Amino acid sequence: MTSTREPIGVIGTGYVGLVTAAGFAELGNEVWCIDIDAHKIQRLEQGEIPIYEPGLAELVAKHRGRLHFSTDITEALEHARLLFVAVGTPPTYSGDADLSAVHAVVAAMPPSDRHALVMKSTVPVGTGTSIKRSFVEQGKPGFRYVSCPEFLKEGSAIADFLHPDRVVVGDDGDWAGEAVVELYRPLLKPQYGGQGSGELVRTDIASAEMVKLAANAFLATKISFINEIANVCEVTGANVTEVSKGIGLDDRIGPRFLQPGIGFGGSCFPKDVNALKQLAGNSGYHFQLLNAVIEVNELQKRRVIGKLHKHLGSLVGKRIALLGLAFKPNTDDMRDASSLVLAARLQADGAKVSAYDPIAEDEARELMSGVDFADGPLDAVRDADAVVLVTEWDEFRTLDWREVADVMSGTVLIDGRNALDPAAVRAAGLAYEGIGRS
Ligand SMILES: NC(=O)c1ccc[n+]([C@@H]2O[C@H](COP(=O)([O-])OP(=O)(O)OC[C@H]3O[C@@H](n4cnc5c(N)ncnc54)[C@H](O)[C@@H]3O)[C@@H](O)[C@H]2O)c1
Repeated sequence: MTSTREPIGVIGTGYVGLVTAAGFAELGNEVWCIDIDAHKIQRLEQGEIPIYEPGLAELVAKHRGRLHFSTDITEALEHARLLFVAVGTPPTYSGDADLSAVHAVVAAMPPSDRHALVMKSTVPVGTGTSIKRSFVEQGKPGFRYVSCPEFLKEGSAIADFLHPDRVVVGDDGDWAGEAVVELYRPLLKPQYGGQGSGELVRTDIASAEMVKLAANAFLATKISFINEIANVCEVTGANVTEVSKGIGLDDRIGPRFLQPGIGFGGSCFPKDVNALKQLAGNSGYHFQLLNAVIEVNELQKRRVIGKLHKHLGSLVGKRIALLGLAFKPNTDDMRDASSLVLAARLQADGAKVSAYDPIAEDEARELMSGVDFADGPLDAVRDADAVVLVTEWDEFRTLDWREVADVMSGTVLIDGRNALDPAAVRAAGLAYEGIGRS
């Protein structure tokens, strides 16, 4: 049976591109997936998924017939009018977003009156305007442009795609914006003609670009805020877990993103907060609050070292075990993970570092040197003077702490995510210290 849904192209098959492609395939769309990484495309063609994202492999396998993988844009252009752009926009040395991959995509587009780029990559405000200008300068004024920022969370990306809070479409009021709304229609609330959960935010391109940056900056601010509250709890005797609960019940505040820890990482928050700060600065505005958010986050990663010093004195020759390395559970993404800063700081202080992560070890090996990677949590903590829980994978919550205490040579456990039951850890004879839990 052929689908009546519109075929689409997706350029860039990373976390966002592959989830978007698989998600639209689930809705019945044929999807042409393009990437410049030939090895990645070859693996995808063979049914291998290059990243770890729960449910993604199953969804790609289910829709193998609707998903087409290639390094060549030609077929995508032939079959699809809408080309979703999901290429990376990493930070440059100046903290601005590196738009070279986005510009490469723009340059690769042929003159056309029937195609549109739909920007999923996170880009600075003003990118849409400059891309439209480039289309004109490059002799392809008929090419349309839509901003459709992505809000998925790694670890629950499929559910986020299929059950969005909102779909933001920023456009110039032409056919392309309408076509993007139509694509998302089944995921929108009944008031928009759908059967889903999503609010529709239909706006101009610059506002759509800003929604994405402001959303990430606000969430990062919430995290740095509760981390500072936790730090004050530590010196005043309050317990941040109780405080988070108490303030989160206020529906003007809400309970989410009020869990203190050893700082946010990942491919989005650090770079997007920086990019917004730079964007404001480049436009002559000093975004003071974001400077504090960034600084608090950097210091938060390093506070673990102070806690270890407090218990162990000098770290020279001490063995410190890191449980979890990925920037959060249920992903193999190591971009800007707090574990990278922590391991490097520990090594600089003369400590020996062992580590275990259930999924991210291969990625971590590329980025960390001199770390002893273990095959399981007990191997990692063997002979350790202290253990730091870095990523709250479920398997760490159910560890037998008596077994852990038996194989460690010391007794210190720093719970960097407040994920463990302090009483259970202490009952095993370990010295428990969380973040802001007096
Ligand atoms: N990862 C997230 O959780 C998330 C969430 C929301 C938004 N975003 C944004 O989405 C964008 C993509 O993020 P990601 O995590 O999927 O990145 P990624 O690095 O996982 O994937 C990017 C892909 O684009 C490919 N690529 C680069 N240049 C290309 C080109 N010219 N043509 C075709 N393919 C090209 C790369 O080979 C890579 O496979 C970024 O702007 C990011 O900020 C990411």
